[in-house]
Amino acid sequence: MTGTILVDNLTRTFGKTIAVDHISLEVKEGEVFGFLGPNGAGKTTTVRMLCSLIRPDEGKAIVGGHDIVKEGSAVRSIVGLLPEPELSGLYERMTPIENLEYFARLYDLPENQLKSRVKELLDMMELWGRRGDRVATFSRGMRQKLSIARALIHDPKILFMDEPTTGLDPAAAKSFREFIANLCKQLDRTVFLCTHNLPEADMICDRIAIINHGRLATIGETSALKKSLWTKRVFTLSLLPGFDKSVIERLADIGSVDNLKLRRNTLQYETDKPDQVNPTIVQKIVQSGGKIVTLQEERKTLEDIYMKIIGQTEESSWMEV
Ligand SMILES: Nc1ncnc2c1ncn2[C@@H]1O[C@H](COP(=O)(O)OP(=O)(O)OP(=O)(O)O)[C@@H](O)[C@H]1O
Ligand SMILES: [Mg+2]
Repeated sequence: MTGTILVDNLTRTFGKTIAVDHISLEVKEGEVFGFLGPNGAGKTTTVRMLCSLIRPDEGKAIVGGHDIVKEGSAVRSIVGLLPEPELSGLYERMTPIENLEYFARLYDLPENQLKSRVKELLDMMELWGRRGDRVATFSRGMRQKLSIARALIHDPKILFMDEPTTGLDPAAAKSFREFIANLCKQLDRTVFLCTHNLPEADMICDRIAIINHGRLATIGETSALKKSLWTKRVFTLSLLPGFDKSVIERLADIGSVDNLKLRRNTLQYETDKPDQVNPTIVQKIVQSGGKIVTLQEERKTLEDIYMKIIGQTEESSWMEV
């Protein structure tokens, strides 16, 4: 059984809306793959197609070695799906044990393994203490934990998760991330993760894709995406007040210094030659009597990548020098 996902020109429309528009991608076995994009971009629709819950209009996908259209039931038996939090599909009037046993039987889990598997998952999600209570009495985060347990009940080779940490408290979200990392690295499970939590995706995803208006806008490792999107590195230098502003203005004339800006006592500039430029700038400021407090590189984050791809950049409060 393989844990790969191969997607070729997958397309799905709802009436006049093109929810997913000819997307192609590949997810490797044992990878945590982040699928990001604005509301309505087509993430959930893609996941529903890949789990063989709805059919594509065009294109093809092979999930765990099975065709999502021709071998739908095989796909459904090897994937685990954590649906969007609002669509948990849990039975409110049943206890967590009853819920998990019910789903375990749907997946034909052997009766002699059933009880121990359910206990293992409820322990892991810290719900064992509430095993006798009906789900109707559960908090949002507790329901989400139970949904995660449900998605894992048959030990799926490929796990699709739609907003898994929504509603989890910080400690639960952290242990969930550790659990996901372990699942992929130790057990070679593949995780396809839809999320709006960009710092979280930055932490746990090996690669990410951004989908916008149904189209794949970018795909790759975040470090490679950063390099391709920003060829120059950005530095900020903060000074004690009272420095000579004319000296700062002349720094723009140094070769390889671009986009020099000033905001109060902080200078920002871009360069592709920091080894030459940074010492020169420091020297010129110090020689003019300026006192430097810090000089640091502005690290680009996944949020910066996302905003650049989606086309929303923050309004700048910097002044051009
Ligand atoms: N069953 C449906 N019937 C009609 N339109 C639908 C249906 N499901 C999705 N759509 C439309 O398809 C588009 C993509 O929706 P989708 O749920 O895939 O987005 P998403 O990326 O998951 O968004 P979110 O981040 O808000 O969860 C939207 O325009 C949505 O209105
Ligand atoms: Mg969605």
